[in-house]
Amino acid sequence: MSDILVHAEGGVLTLTLNRLERKNSLTSDMYASLADAIARAQDDASARVVLIQGHETVFCAGNDIGDFLNKPPAGQDSPVFRFLRGIATFPKPLIAAACGPAVGIGTTMLLHCDLVYAGDNAAFSMPFVNLGLCPEAASSLLVPQMLGYHRAAEALLLGEPFMAEAALEVGLVNRVLPPTEANGYASAQAKKLAAKPLSSLVETKRLMKKGQQQAVLQQMIDEGESFGRMLTAPAAKEAFTAFMEKRRPDFSKV
Ligand code: COA
Repeated sequence: MSDILVHAEGGVLTLTLNRLERKNSLTSDMYASLADAIARAQDDASARVVLIQGHETVFCAGNDIGDFLNKPPAGQDSPVFRFLRGIATFPKPLIAAACGPAVGIGTTMLLHCDLVYAGDNAAFSMPFVNLGLCPEAASSLLVPQMLGYHRAAEALLLGEPFMAEAALEVGLVNRVLPPTEANGYASAQAKKLAAKPLSSLVETKRLMKKGQQQAVLQQMIDEGESFGRMLTAPAAKEAFTAFMEKRRPDFSKV
């Protein structure tokens, strides 16, 4: 079965991360599938709302670390950056349902969703520093805005996870539900939106986002340049190798 399931019904295009044996970590092929589906949805009049969801036990364990080692993203046209630009500029409503771990891009992609529903088992984390990396998805701009600088520093410098209730408090998620209900609830909300006039939805979203759109895209470019450089530097190599060898990384020499 495919690692990304695509299902269109009643104006809602649902993209399901489906790589449970690797905790829905994302490979470059998966980013490419997501980016292509989002680009198609933008032009497809029958897709009025897009919903991204995972499984009730895990939303997404971030980038596949083996892929980081073997196929690091090369430049702004690589699948991961196409996906990030796609969600940051998607003109129609974008909804997510996240249960269980949401690591790295599993959390930062939510910053670009209009509505986010979480299972009460959700654990959000952005451990880029712990991997010898830096933030992506404009999270270095959007997380301080959302959490305030000091809580953002805990999340981005220490890489500490925060749970669903804390995410609700800071406004990263709209509602916390039992994990078995999160995808269904998000889907019901998506259907509600799909029944509304699309032109009004698109215009309202455009007006809400326009003040920051350029800054978000520029931040993604700046982050992407640093991220690309850091991916092949000694700290990240040590972090990825340690992960593959199931040991703690030793950053004493980097
Ligand atoms: N890349 C590659 N493989 C991954 C992965 C990732 N990001 N996340 C999990 N996996 C693999 C594990 O190595 C493990 O493989 P194995 O069965 O061969 O040992 C399998 O998926 C199951 O993961 P496991 O860690 O045993 O599950 P868990 O329920 O105990 O923990 C997580 C789940 C998500 C908390 C944990 O897997 C994790 O922290 N993953 C890494 C997250 C990360 O650092 N991502 C990069 C962010 S930029």
